Amino acid sequence: MKQLYFGVDYYPEHWERERWEVDAELMRQMGIQMVRMAEFSWHKLQPEENKFDFAWLDEAVALLGNYGIYTILGTPTAAPPAWLIHKHPEILPVDQQGRVRGFGGRHHDCQSNPVYRKYISKLVTKLAQHYGRNPWVIGWQPDNELGNSHQELCTCESCRRHFQDWLKKKYKTTEELNRAWGTAFWSQEYNEFTEVCAPRITVTGENPSAMLDWKRFCSDLIVDFTKQQTDIIRKFTENQFITHNYMGFADKVDYYKLGELLDFVSHDQYPGGFYLSETPHEKNYVLAAALDVVRSYKNQPFWIMEQQSGITGWEVMGRAPAPGQLTAWSLQSVARGADAIVFFRWRTCAMGTEQYWHGILPHSGNPGRRYEELKSMIQTMEPLMERLQGSMPRPQAGIVFSFEQAYAFQIQPHHEDLSYTGQIQKYYRALYQQNIPLDFVPEQGDFKKYKLLIAPLQYLMSPELEEKYMEYVRQGGHLLLTMRTGVKDVHNLCMTDRELPGRLGELAGIEVLEYDCLKGTHVKVQYQGQSLQADLWSDLMRILPETEILAEYDSEFYKGEPCITKHPYGEGVCYYVGTQPGEELMEALMTEICQKAGVKTVCSAQKDVECVVREKDGNRFLFVVNHSSEEKSYIVPEGYRLIRGEEAGKLKKYEVQILEG
Ligand code: GAL
Repeated sequence: MKQLYFGVDYYPEHWERERWEVDAELMRQMGIQMVRMAEFSWHKLQPEENKFDFAWLDEAVALLGNYGIYTILGTPTAAPPAWLIHKHPEILPVDQQGRVRGFGGRHHDCQSNPVYRKYISKLVTKLAQHYGRNPWVIGWQPDNELGNSHQELCTCESCRRHFQDWLKKKYKTTEELNRAWGTAFWSQEYNEFTEVCAPRITVTGENPSAMLDWKRFCSDLIVDFTKQQTDIIRKFTENQFITHNYMGFADKVDYYKLGELLDFVSHDQYPGGFYLSETPHEKNYVLAAALDVVRSYKNQPFWIMEQQSGITGWEVMGRAPAPGQLTAWSLQSVARGADAIVFFRWRTCAMGTEQYWHGILPHSGNPGRRYEELKSMIQTMEPLMERLQGSMPRPQAGIVFSFEQAYAFQIQPHHEDLSYTGQIQKYYRALYQQNIPLDFVPEQGDFKKYKLLIAPLQYLMSPELEEKYMEYVRQGGHLLLTMRTGVKDVHNLCMTDRELPGRLGELAGIEVLEYDCLKGTHVKVQYQGQSLQADLWSDLMRILPETEILAEYDSEFYKGEPCITKHPYGEGVCYYVGTQPGEELMEALMTEICQKAGVKTVCSAQKDVECVVREKDGNRFLFVVNHSSEEKSYIVPEGYRLIRGEEAGKLKKYEVQILEG
């Protein structure tokens, strides 16, 4: 396949045919090499049950091809048409309150529904047969942002039956199911699998073990739904890739598992925020973390399938990206592992929900500031992209990230402000601010690659995972564990055979005998002669003889008791953090731990300057991104020379420099 670096999401079906040629020419001039099309155009492709019409798409693919522009095809299964829903209303999803969600948005579908699956099979087969050998079609994106719209949908009869089958396969007998779910509580025992419900809202709280399995089932269902399409596409296509547009930390589907079906992962990056929520501009670390986690899903470079190209907004809107900011965000994506950037969208839509989710071109279609800025970004990057493609950051530190732990904390967050992803991002932030690169690592991943492993909230624990952590430290690793570790077994039942954190207590050199949920208050912590704030939780612990106390509580009835500890084990060290450190404490603590572990910054820079290195074949590419509207500076590391930018070490507002070393 030709090397491709920059593209746009294009919806020719929204515009008159005469305009297509103008668009293609403007794209060509800008340096656009590919488009993604058709991911919502089911009705245009199949206007009636027995009528398929691919002529318009054939024409668009060919016309763009004349300008040297390739196509990635989306399968339009995120937008089942009105005729299909009218004929088979049972396809509509049912929410947890038992309400049927209607036609009118998108993803108004139940992914387990066999009728819907039959229609999908027919349409995707026809598409794959038709485009599977088209030289201008380079790849496929099944559906769109799978899991995104579904939240806790769907609880229809079909999902209920599929859930029962899933449980039967997993537990074989209802005795096993009853044990795993702890159904003796409130008389919830099942005699038959057919008695199990898809969880509708209950009168009082739900069974946490049942809810965890439900979330696992929903994730597996989405993987299975995708597999139906990837199997068909693989059968009928040649030399075309399959990818999917992920959403960073979105967790409806286990992205590690979904990634097994794909050639590479893609991601949608909207620094301006999604829908009604906004991402404050100082949250650059959240953007960086999203890119790093996406890279981790297959542990390889990824594509951006939707990179923000204007104001975001549905009913309300975000801020206008300042001159230079779209470039800075795009190159932040490249810095953290993107091999190609596809912008969302080409032209701002004149109709429908996304009239204010702005594209490169404004409503008028006349190229303006955004077009010119991205065009010149592409011109400066084009010559570098080939060398960058395939390169990877090589961090010395990793953060363990698990979908199952996230699910368990969604079910029982403990404290209204505690979230698994939020907690992970707090640790991430402390390293990000010092430009210390990080990987995210699945529990099944290779821990040995890292000098330092940060494993917050290891709540659900198995003997295998315990052993893996112990072995990592035995062999010389530096491990950080936190509060709420080793609390539950894999069925979400509390473990009772030892004090917390179970067998990992031997590793951490502590036993947690009591704890305090800090509702409506904070706690003070003494660390290196300062009294600093911590939040949400306090573990009260007894320490083993060789355990060193790094910090003590400085308020509450446990003032003077250990809060953060360090324990030598084998060749390595295990830290235990019994609370959620506030920003100052977190920064100081992580600075100490990184130093001890020998984990280093890639570049020393002023605040709001992000530095990352990608490496390939012995070449290192250092990206320095100024996220602020002020001039900034950084210290040029030895051995590096500037290959993009004006004056090494000095950054204009939103400037991105690249150095090679
Ligand atoms: C993404 C989605 C796109 C579009 C965009 C702007 O999440 O994949 O189809 O909806 O947001 O809202």
